[in-house]
Amino acid sequence: METVAVCSSNFKKNERCLDYIEFEMCDSVIPIALLDVDQSFEKVPEDGVVVEINAFSCNYRDKSIVIHSNDKCRNQSVSGNLYYYPVGSEFVGKVVEIGNEVKHLRIGDRVIPDGAYPLKADGTFGGLPTNCASQRFQMLSQAYLKKIPDTMSDEVAAAFTIAGQTVYSMLRKLDLKFGQSILVTAATSNTSLAVISALRKYNVNIYACSTSDANFDKLKELGVNECITKSSLESRETALLTSSFGGFDAVIDPFFDLYLYPVFGHIKNGGKYITCGLYAQNGKFENQNKQQLDFGMFLGTSISQNISIIGNCLGTTSDLDMALKDFEAGIFDIRIDSVWDKSNLLHFFQKTFHQVPRLGKVIFKYD
Ligand SMILES: NC(=O)c1ccc[n+]([C@@H]2O[C@H](COP(=O)([O-])OP(=O)(O)OC[C@H]3O[C@@H](n4cnc5c(N)ncnc54)[C@H](OP(=O)(O)O)[C@@H]3O)[C@@H](O)[C@H]2O)c1
Repeated sequence: METVAVCSSNFKKNERCLDYIEFEMCDSVIPIALLDVDQSFEKVPEDGVVVEINAFSCNYRDKSIVIHSNDKCRNQSVSGNLYYYPVGSEFVGKVVEIGNEVKHLRIGDRVIPDGAYPLKADGTFGGLPTNCASQRFQMLSQAYLKKIPDTMSDEVAAAFTIAGQTVYSMLRKLDLKFGQSILVTAATSNTSLAVISALRKYNVNIYACSTSDANFDKLKELGVNECITKSSLESRETALLTSSFGGFDAVIDPFFDLYLYPVFGHIKNGGKYITCGLYAQNGKFENQNKQQLDFGMFLGTSISQNISIIGNCLGTTSDLDMALKDFEAGIFDIRIDSVWDKSNLLHFFQKTFHQVPRLGKVIFKYD
């Protein structure tokens, strides 16, 4: 079956290669192909579920994984062998086979990953079930899967888990109150777009910070009250703005290495700072904004200002359930930038990994 994958360059002339592109990222040339892959599973375990993938998407972390996969393919193919790694961390698919002990899913159900972390619904160690979401058939334990409503399109479903689960976990930890002032940084990241969508039900004042003002109008249409550019965070103007309402009650930040330093002074006494990630996840990422983070200073200020610094990785199954419930009620949604298919492999990767501007998730759909 047709499978998108990072591959060794010797696939280019192989009969299994249906399409081949070279994608340039972080000074690397990355061969990517649409491959014709045979896949079968000899035996499905008792709690196993075989899912046929319809669509997938990548997240920021996949940028680093794609670079690693390319290095592995290149190194392993020196002796002429063929190597490939499917890509992506989110998918939507259809259940095509189940083990005898599978209770909650049936053949034909549409499913997405449940990335519950640190524990899956069955109490075992969790996290995302795959970083190879483009592989056409996945065999996973039932606790890694969540049935989705018929009203959810494949496009949204292929991009739902990570943002839904992470954002609902962060908002649960922040325990927001009516009328509070919340700053969302890297506002055009997919995580922050989902934060902005989920924040609408809280009746809070949403402030958004972005590296450019290009999407300020669109962010306001999404419910943001006021937008600030990243470069103006340390300006007198922003200091006057935030002091006019006493500072932010909470800051939600997907990139602590870009934002912790310039936002910390804008958090009010007793406020909260929550982060789920960092920008420099790979040594090859250029980080012009890098700040020397003095953690002694941040902890000292967090004590004197009673500021809680909170880390967050993914969320629980209940967080994903809550995101799905709000989706069905029309309260929460995932913004989609574009949907691509096999005739547009290069466009899919260019948009996904920031070479072409985007506002929302970029989806790859199989036929
Ligand atoms: N731990 C977890 O469970 C978890 C879950 C979800 C996400 N995360 C983390 O959250 C972060 C965001 O992930 P994502 O998938 O939402 O990211 P994304 O959509 O790829 O975010 C891209 C955004 O980053 C900002 N940015 C700033 N400098 C940039 C540069 N030089 N190149 C490209 N983008 C730049 C831009 O926003 P602005 O222009 O608006 O500033 C851009 O829109 C990552 O650190 C990710 O690992 C973690």
